[in-house]
Amino acid sequence: MPDTENKNGATPRGAGTSKAKRAARRTPRPRLATNQRMVPPAARPKRRIVAVTSGKGGVGKTNIVTNLAIALARQGVRVLIVDGDLGLANVDLLLGVAPQYDLQDVVLGQRNIRDVVFEGPDGIHVLPASSGVEELANLDEFRTECLLRSLSDMDEECDLILIDSPSGIGHNATSMVQAADQILVVTTPEPTSFSDAYAMIKVLSRRPLKCVPSLLVNQANSDDEATNVARRVRTVAKRFLNIDVEYWGCVLADESVAKSVQRQEPFLSTYPYSPAASCIYSLARRVMGQEPMPVAPAQGPYGVVTPDELPEGV
Ligand SMILES: Nc1ncnc2c1ncn2[C@@H]1O[C@H](COP(=O)(O)OP(=O)(O)O)[C@@H](O)[C@H]1O
Ligand SMILES: [Mg+2]
Repeated sequence: MPDTENKNGATPRGAGTSKAKRAARRTPRPRLATNQRMVPPAARPKRRIVAVTSGKGGVGKTNIVTNLAIALARQGVRVLIVDGDLGLANVDLLLGVAPQYDLQDVVLGQRNIRDVVFEGPDGIHVLPASSGVEELANLDEFRTECLLRSLSDMDEECDLILIDSPSGIGHNATSMVQAADQILVVTTPEPTSFSDAYAMIKVLSRRPLKCVPSLLVNQANSDDEATNVARRVRTVAKRFLNIDVEYWGCVLADESVAKSVQRQEPFLSTYPYSPAASCIYSLARRVMGQEPMPVAPAQGPYGVVTPDELPEGV
């Protein structure tokens, strides 16, 4: 992580809560070995928005967004994460920093977006949000639109905006996703999760979108299990919604994810060679329109969930 102080004065969590304490410098984070860095893209494509969402909460969106941003940054892509899971924001928590200002200050017109964005590991930029703020959780369409427009202030410095979007089929959950050029719906292999993923796809398909949502299966015990889940969701989406949901692969269930969450560090920093990390690298390739890499065999004592039937209503 670069040791330059960011504008937002983001400090490590646990450094105290007062503004003076927050102004303290952050501890340096592990740096990426130079041989892992890839050559930056020759020509910078137009800035894209990728929204990561889900039907059900707790499926791994924040972990995927944060680590995907780092994987992309390691390919030379300049990424801005927008913590759009308003009201339940926790990208900053996952990075172990306590920002002084956040998206609420931008929405209330008290801060410029540039004052709020901070620099995270591998040079990723993060627009943090506040947790537990009800008025933010219920951001109306007008304010969402204003917020999305104000993101253009960052156009010069970013190639890709990754939105950690709220889960659920509520209106504010879908309004941010509508602006995206790519939508990634995350599910786990649990029937309740992929049933809710289908419900989310269904709600989204009734809105004006720029793309057909894609599916990512997180916490899969194997590539086969994830493919099976994806096949079910794709089949139902084709049959009842007549849309071709693209399967964007999986992230294997991996205990290094939970261990990294405990340490408040992204697993791409703490366990860069873990099975979950290689899946994220593969996902990053897909986001960049490259061929994904094959999935490594699953590790860890995770129970395989093999639903026999599609849940009711799907
Ligand atoms: N691939 C994975 N393998 C194992 N555990 C995971 C994986 N992805 C997520 N988790 C677990 O799920 C929890 C919730 O993840 P999080 O990213 O906060 O979900 P969301 O943002 O969708 O609510 C994490 O704290 C982590 O323990
Ligand atoms: Mg989250």
